[in-house]
Amino acid sequence: MKILGISFGRRNERCDIMVKEALFAAKEAGADVQFINTMALRIDHCHACDYCSRCRDRGDTEIHCCLQDDYHILEEAYYDCDGVIIAAPVYAVGIVGQFKNFLDRLCPSHDRAVVVETNKQRAAEGKPLLDSRYSKDRYSAYISVGGANTRNWVALGLPMLHLFDFSFLQKCVGHVDAYDQGNTGSPILDRDLMRRCASLGTAVANAIGKPYDQVDTWAGDPDDGVCPVCHCRMLNFNGTEDVECPICGIWGKMAYKDGKFTVTWSEAEKNRARSTVNGIYEHYYEIQNMVKICVPKLTDPDNAAFIQREMEKYRHFDEIVGNV
Ligand SMILES: Cc1cc2nc3c(=O)[nH]c(=O)nc-3n(C[C@H](O)[C@H](O)[C@H](O)COP(=O)(O)O)c2cc1C
Repeated sequence: MKILGISFGRRNERCDIMVKEALFAAKEAGADVQFINTMALRIDHCHACDYCSRCRDRGDTEIHCCLQDDYHILEEAYYDCDGVIIAAPVYAVGIVGQFKNFLDRLCPSHDRAVVVETNKQRAAEGKPLLDSRYSKDRYSAYISVGGANTRNWVALGLPMLHLFDFSFLQKCVGHVDAYDQGNTGSPILDRDLMRRCASLGTAVANAIGKPYDQVDTWAGDPDDGVCPVCHCRMLNFNGTEDVECPICGIWGKMAYKDGKFTVTWSEAEKNRARSTVNGIYEHYYEIQNMVKICVPKLTDPDNAAFIQREMEKYRHFDEIVGNV
């Protein structure tokens, strides 16, 4: 079993130290480990050119991104792992953009529902299947690292890291919200923090090889989140008792009693979180239905002609507003 640790922070600084601490524990628990620091890597953002989808649709066994940069180093390391532990710094309240660039290029093009459905069709037609590493179950753990001394300035750190789970249907077994680094100085001085990071490595290593429904571990920080799936603290509120976890996309019922707010989540909702088979298929069918509605609209001759005419002003924006 192989566990990949990725640090999106500076070399030998906090993210590196904490993810390596997790990897030492994973090694101790019997895993092979690999560490990558991304600071010197160039990982551009997704250009939405659809090259990756075309690889899949024309029958290739591998899905590739056509941008020529260092993304492929991380991509290959990820395919080969059975578990992943990511540490990334919080910049401007959210996770550093390089992490999101990596996620955008890797995850949506490997959406598990699309991979499974593509393989079903190929099997029926006797064609070669997609690389089996795309549909491998993996366990994950996350470390969000921030300088601020309260959670106030790291609010989107862990939620953004958890977005890495859903396309590949990973199961997260723990996270650490390592804020307050400005005061801590070095994470090495905070022994409890280091123990929490180490517990992530142990949890991922111990989970690998087990089916998801047999793993109910939560490691790292104490489980004080509100969502029962991602264990984050964030909620979308629409003025009613119905509240949504924006990371998992599931709905709960909020109640107030004896001076305390609670949120109750049904089993049905938990089972439709984005990082579950039901959740990923819900999204798959949503996209299929969009295509059914959108394509006839755009190919309707009247609509097509109207769009062409109207587009003239958008194409010539600079000339019209005098920006030339
Ligand atoms: C551009 C920039 C923005 C930052 N914004 C935040 C922030 O909003 N909240 C926070 O807690 N820390 C913020 N920090 C501090 C980093 O999260 C902190 O230094 C962290 O330790 C960096 O990880 P590293 O030490 O592994 O490189 C910011 C740092 C930089 C460079």
